[in-house]
Amino acid sequence: MNQPVEMSMRNRTGIDRSPADSQKMIDAANAYMPSSKGNGSALMDMESGYIQEAEPVGTVAIPGTLKGAAKATMQMLAGRNAEVLVDKLGERLAFERTGTRLYDYFINKCETMHCEAPISIDTLKRFRQEESQHFKLVANALETLGADSTSQTPGADVSAVASSGVLQVMSDPRTSVDQSLEAMLNAELVDNAGWDLLVKLADEMGLEDMAKDFQVALSEEDEHLMEIRQWYEQCTLKQAGAI
Ligand SMILES: [Fe+2]
Ligand SMILES: [Fe+2]
Repeated sequence: MNQPVEMSMRNRTGIDRSPADSQKMIDAANAYMPSSKGNGSALMDMESGYIQEAEPVGTVAIPGTLKGAAKATMQMLAGRNAEVLVDKLGERLAFERTGTRLYDYFINKCETMHCEAPISIDTLKRFRQEESQHFKLVANALETLGADSTSQTPGADVSAVASSGVLQVMSDPRTSVDQSLEAMLNAELVDNAGWDLLVKLADEMGLEDMAKDFQVALSEEDEHLMEIRQWYEQCTLKQAGAI
């Protein structure tokens, strides 16, 4: 059940709950020192070895036969590393798809919990719709570059791993609306920076139409971030009895 934060004797995680037992644990830790040699830097040396040997996470798929508009767009990018743009577009594509799912979870939680102001379910539904439209916008942008929007890019792979915790929080039935808001803020901060970067990339690469479309998406993302952040602050302050 979704409860506000409360104090309870059920929480026994801290050392203060049992001074006698915790002293025994401290004594044991002091009595049995690590038997092997080495320290944190030895661990990092080992990690460095793996880094030097590691293969990259993935590669960007080679586009199929370029036709019409895609051919013209790629000619505009001659001399630039178009694969960087494709990688970042693939990353945004995956993120927007997940973003849509995140809002689905959040809307369901808010509806189930009968959320009240400042949270607006209508606004959340609009944000969800915008995430879905952004997904389509990025898919179209990939097509104009002749790239396959169904192929996973390395950026998409890494970003999915990085944001997997947010998805876990949102899909956990125990998390409160406040905790969900914090997870959504995590996602929207990254989302916003991602769109900001895409606008700059498209602009610097001379893709004016693309940059203009991305600017519209960025303005919508600005609103997502501002609202989620405000709701998060207001809900927490309200719960603390500060407002
Ligand atoms: Fe988004
Ligand atoms: Fe967003």
